Amino acid sequence: MASPLDLAHYIRSIPDFPKKGINFRDITTLLSDGPAFRECIDQLAAKLGHLGATKVVCAEARGFIFGAALAYKLGIGFVPVRKPGKLPARTISVTYALEYGTDTLHMHADALAAGERVIVLDDLLATGGTCRAILQMILMQHAIPVGVGFLIELDALGGRAKLIEGLACSPLIDSLIHYTSE
Ligand code: PRP
Ligand code: MG
Repeated sequence: MASPLDLAHYIRSIPDFPKKGINFRDITTLLSDGPAFRECIDQLAAKLGHLGATKVVCAEARGFIFGAALAYKLGIGFVPVRKPGKLPARTISVTYALEYGTDTLHMHADALAAGERVIVLDDLLATGGTCRAILQMILMQHAIPVGVGFLIELDALGGRAKLIEGLACSPLIDSLIHYTSE
């Protein structure tokens, strides 16, 4: 069997974007390479596919790219988490703190069934604020987050610990690529 591609090789780093001091991990170079993008989804499926989930829950915009592909691969449903004013039916929401200000994410109130097993997927784990908000909305619907997957995890920001701190869940958390420092 062929050895897996080194996915980190396909990520481009852009210094000082979107502001000075941030080393932006650009996934567009991975997405534009067919075999690398497929390998990425295959690796996520291998890590999360055995958990018995029936939905993948993802936040716009970059999360959708990976979440839709993983849902297709696993043959399970896709649930979008969106910014305010985008979802047409009744929603639940969580507001969370950013470095400056706050952000709010919404999910349809009837998107998940009580007791349903779900996976959360995103391209990047940085501070953990985005994914924690998603987990909170899953728990508000009495569904069970069984797995959380990322393409990239920025270890130095400690987002992994913050993700589930104080929440009544203990999902498997896995990332394909780790950056230990800038
Ligand atoms: C980025 C990224 C993750 C989030 C990670 O999304 O795609 O969703 O930040 O950061 P956190 O762990 O500190 O929450 P962003 O909201 O920048 O926008 P996009 O996905 O719409 O491009
Ligand atoms: Mg995002």
